[in-house]
Amino acid sequence: MTGPMAVVTIDGPAGSGKSSTARAVARALGYRHLDSGALFRAVTLGLLRSGIPEEEWSEVKLAQLEEMKIELVPSGTRFDVEMDGIVVDRELRSPDVTRRVPGVATIPAVRDWLLRRQRAAAKGGGVVVDGRDTGTVVFPDAAVKVFLTAGIEERARRRLLQDEGAEPPTRRDVRREAERLADRDRQDETREIAPLRRPEGAIEVDTTGLSFEEQVARVVEAVRGWG
Ligand code: DC
Repeated sequence: MTGPMAVVTIDGPAGSGKSSTARAVARALGYRHLDSGALFRAVTLGLLRSGIPEEEWSEVKLAQLEEMKIELVPSGTRFDVEMDGIVVDRELRSPDVTRRVPGVATIPAVRDWLLRRQRAAAKGGGVVVDGRDTGTVVFPDAAVKVFLTAGIEERARRRLLQDEGAEPPTRRDVRREAERLADRDRQDETREIAPLRRPEGAIEVDTTGLSFEEQVARVVEAVRGWG
């Protein structure tokens, strides 16, 4: 890729395909994918490992966050998340972490610290970052902002198929998962800190009727149009 390298943000609700799209867009452009959710998950893992009682997490201090030694390490078209010099990946998606991360994501000290880490990693551009507030709060001046959406049943189906070794979901499974996602959407949209909303100037891509390749192509075209 020649020419200037953009910062590209991809926000959207749970199950809209943000991370897989961001990863593929980064590969197509020779950019690097920054998964901001992985950072929130790493802090959650760090808090679990720290032995700090969960009731005290909301009071966590900057020094305690620094002690976790969470680093974003460039690696091909992605950033690895390292803790104490060791790459963490699968550990970030354990049920213990997944259950606690929405609460951790509402702690102001955590958001503030991660905001600075994300900006430092994206300095110089050439980064595709996905999350909930990357186009609104973290990178309000990003060159290209995308808001990904999809119908709720479609998102539920995708979520269920994502689970390892998953059988094709029944209609009942899909309906139940859709209800869970609707709850999660309400939480994400109404929380006081960094609520999920469409960033100003964002391109909205509704992926309900699109193939994965098509949705990736839409974003790639938008970035090429910019550069
Ligand atoms: O996308 P994910 O499931 O890995 O996100 C994990 C959690 O982090 C989820 O509860 C939302 C939160 N999050 C956030 O608040 N802001 C971001 N930019 C990314 C994730």
